[in-house]
Amino acid sequence: MCWIIAPALFLSCFAVFWHAPAQDRSSANDLLFFLSSPDSPLKGYPVPLTAGVIPKRFHSHNDYAQNVPLYKALSYGASSVEADIYLVDDELLVGHTPFDLSKERTLAALYLDPLMSLIQTANEKATTGTRRGIFELAPAITLNLLIDIKTDGPSTFDKLYAALEPLRSAGYLSTYDPHTSSIKQSIITVIGTGDTPLSSVQALGSNKRRPRDIFLDAPLAKLPGDTAKVYNHTNSPLASIDFGSGVGLWWALPPVGKARIRMLVEAAHARGVQTRFWNTPIAPIWLRNYVWQMLLDEGVDWLNVDDLPAAKDF
Ligand SMILES: *[C@@H]1O[C@H](CO)[C@@H](O)[C@H](O)[C@H]1NC(C)=O
Repeated sequence: MCWIIAPALFLSCFAVFWHAPAQDRSSANDLLFFLSSPDSPLKGYPVPLTAGVIPKRFHSHNDYAQNVPLYKALSYGASSVEADIYLVDDELLVGHTPFDLSKERTLAALYLDPLMSLIQTANEKATTGTRRGIFELAPAITLNLLIDIKTDGPSTFDKLYAALEPLRSAGYLSTYDPHTSSIKQSIITVIGTGDTPLSSVQALGSNKRRPRDIFLDAPLAKLPGDTAKVYNHTNSPLASIDFGSGVGLWWALPPVGKARIRMLVEAAHARGVQTRFWNTPIAPIWLRNYVWQMLLDEGVDWLNVDDLPAAKDF
């Protein structure tokens, strides 16, 4: 494939092409966790699922479509996962399209309850005042839980806010602190994407009983022109853009592609917001890796990933 590309690209492309491809193998942690009985000594360690796993800044895109949602991503070190939600008959159901939904696959069953139990297990034997997060090796790191709202924004948002109550009252959610004008990180940071309304996020936090603990994945394309700073660190820890519209085929002309990426990243970082490009190429592998490297080189904070083993080893 490489030789059909512009000569300027040839060298870097060559290097990426020969980078050994990551093998698609199952994570040992994953298997141990699932195969052992509840009272097995394998589960005696506080965070058995993530024991020895180094968390990295990559996002498990459409995570619910993995063969084992959430757990698999965590066992590979993904410190961000995504669930698409639909409000149907007063329940939040998880799936990509309305045809993928079922009564059993609720947001609580797939994500909120397992997270609660992971955190509780990790902390039940804690002897000191320090609290453990999701990752055994990095107890202070926050897990981004991206919730892609697929049905009516305001009503789905309100239902999501209610569904988060157990995690909220346990103190496990990152929360905006109006006094310091910053987000106080906790074990999980909930970030609404898709049709999440900025107004719903912004309405939270004005009184203590409704703290702001759902944030926004801001439209990165709008940040360079957003002189009023409508999107900022108080409401949007993250901003995202479709790779096609942010960079497109300019990846093949690195000085231009990189400048486009850098311009967006600088606009976000200037207001304390992290960045993610979604819809990056997934094949061929050399192109996927080439684009990942280009994004990281220009300061992009999160890789958007479907192939978890490859991202773990990247
Ligand atoms: C952040 O955005 C909100 C809503 O758009 C705005 O009210 C607030 O003043 C902004 N804060 C900063 C520090 O820019």
